[in-house]
Amino acid sequence: MLRWYKIDNAQFLKDEGITEHKFGGKTICLTWFEDQLHAFSRKCPHAGAPLKNGWCERGKVICPFHRHEFDLVTGKGNPTQHDFIHIYPVKEEENAYYVGIEKGFWQSFLGSKSN
Ligand code: FES
Repeated sequence: MLRWYKIDNAQFLKDEGITEHKFGGKTICLTWFEDQLHAFSRKCPHAGAPLKNGWCERGKVICPFHRHEFDLVTGKGNPTQHDFIHIYPVKEEENAYYVGIEKGFWQSFLGSKSN
């Protein structure tokens, strides 16, 4: 199940490049690219580089270690890479931005217990 978390001051991230943020115990990356806010995995699946040290071009995030490229919308790596990153959905409502993150098994379990 998806849970939506508000991204504080999302507009101010426009000049910050790729930044890491924690929502519900999970750390993910956020970045603006061509006026769209994107949310994706913290680590590169190739050898674990922090993607916050990478950069974006041509609609892709580029890993700083070995230059694997991942589509900011689908998460797919270039075909020869055979890897991908996770993309988290982002929505805008009344000038606020939210990111959707799957609840982990234990979060769902404990949540259902307390309801
Ligand atoms: S760790 Fe990202 S390309 Fe190798």
